[in-house]
Amino acid sequence: MVRTLGLTQLTMIGVGAIIGAGIFSLAAAVARGTAGPAVLISFLVAGAASLCAAFAYAEFAGMVPKAGSSYTYCAAVLGEIVGWIVGWDLLLEYTAIVAVVAIGMSGYLGFLLDAVGIQLPTWALGAPGTGTGTGHKIDLLAVAICLAVAWLLTRGTRTSARVDTVLTIVKIAIVLLVIVVGFTKVSTDNLTPFAPFGFGGAFAGAATVFFAVFGYDALSTAAEESVEARNKVPKAMMISLAISMALYVLTCIVLTGMQHYTELDPSSGISSAFASVGLNGLANVIAVGAVIGIVTVTFSFMMGAARLWYALSRDGLMPAWFGAIHPKRKVPHRATWVIGVVSALLAGVLPVNAVAELTNIGVLLAFMVVSVAVLILRYKKPHLKRGFRCPGMPVVPVLGIAFSGWLMSYLLWETWARLGAWLAIGLVIYAAYGYRRTRRVMPGGSVDLDALDDLTDAEDAEPHIARETVR
Ligand code: ALA
Repeated sequence: MVRTLGLTQLTMIGVGAIIGAGIFSLAAAVARGTAGPAVLISFLVAGAASLCAAFAYAEFAGMVPKAGSSYTYCAAVLGEIVGWIVGWDLLLEYTAIVAVVAIGMSGYLGFLLDAVGIQLPTWALGAPGTGTGTGHKIDLLAVAICLAVAWLLTRGTRTSARVDTVLTIVKIAIVLLVIVVGFTKVSTDNLTPFAPFGFGGAFAGAATVFFAVFGYDALSTAAEESVEARNKVPKAMMISLAISMALYVLTCIVLTGMQHYTELDPSSGISSAFASVGLNGLANVIAVGAVIGIVTVTFSFMMGAARLWYALSRDGLMPAWFGAIHPKRKVPHRATWVIGVVSALLAGVLPVNAVAELTNIGVLLAFMVVSVAVLILRYKKPHLKRGFRCPGMPVVPVLGIAFSGWLMSYLLWETWARLGAWLAIGLVIYAAYGYRRTRRVMPGGSVDLDALDDLTDAEDAEPHIARETVR
């Protein structure tokens, strides 16, 4: 693997993975149903929570900048079972991200089809319970997108860093266009009342739009190709989050200032807002840009999920059958198809808010565990090489844990029940399979704390064999 990516490219990859369905779809849905124009506050609160977690995450990424490393590290610091829970939880999270982004793309594709006079049958327009009538049965376009991305990935399709950069530039250009043109159409009348659902609504909204403010963990996948990864990856995480937040704040003002929150379209919010002020041509351009710009998010997270699945199988926590690599195409094809089908099911039958909440609860849980692990490691292993040190120890990670727990408390009980069911299945798999199997693969169970010195040293020498070295 040639290390060629510098700070600018890494930042572009970060922004590419952060800006997606969160701003293009969830902002309007949350403004309409939960927060009103105070969705701006929702984004700020979610951004602050994400920043605290990002500091801890960056310290982690600066120790072993490698895909899937959080579960290995959590296993080493907090025990194999916690590592497994983090891995299993991330598997759900990555799969649900693909579903949310597919639903977002489906909304904008539907808007474009409408513009050229093609009307899908009502039953195919969305998940049951969405839309105004009762006719919606399945989000057919979202299902098709998930399956198409899985098919492309199993064919060995990769978007190169250059293609990713171009697509990210398109996406940023579209958001800037929205901001610059949109500001000329803002009416302050639309912004009052600012918080029709009170601060409670804004905070509940934060728990949903939290979806928009993460994605920088995708950077750890790029770390193996980056120059001075220990130092550059954490920096790129921070910069890409800051850029995304600045764009989000301005977009929220434009969105809710152009169209009254009660009239926002939850499926193609930004384009519909432009159409509502008579800018139909621009609305179509934005829809095309949104679809092209956010497709990279589905690719990177489906690939991330498949790699994670591969790593879990390799380490003996899941049956090897799932992690098998296709002999010719060199991709974990079975895992990719499982993820493609599960994300298609989620995207087909659940409303976007529900899947976004499912993702968020998974991410928030992982952020909490990572923050705890970073805290413990700082005091137990102060000498470990760190490319980035989380500032304000121990306050910042503790704040990250508190913020995450607080946001989780706003999520619906159904979301908690779904997470509970997922973790219960995970624990059964661990008890019935992983526990015994890892003891055969790694005598004594998972990596222990002392092995971390070898792990970080091995990372310098040869990134790809770090885990094997520990064994
Ligand atoms: N933050 C990413 C998005 O909004 C996952 O699509």
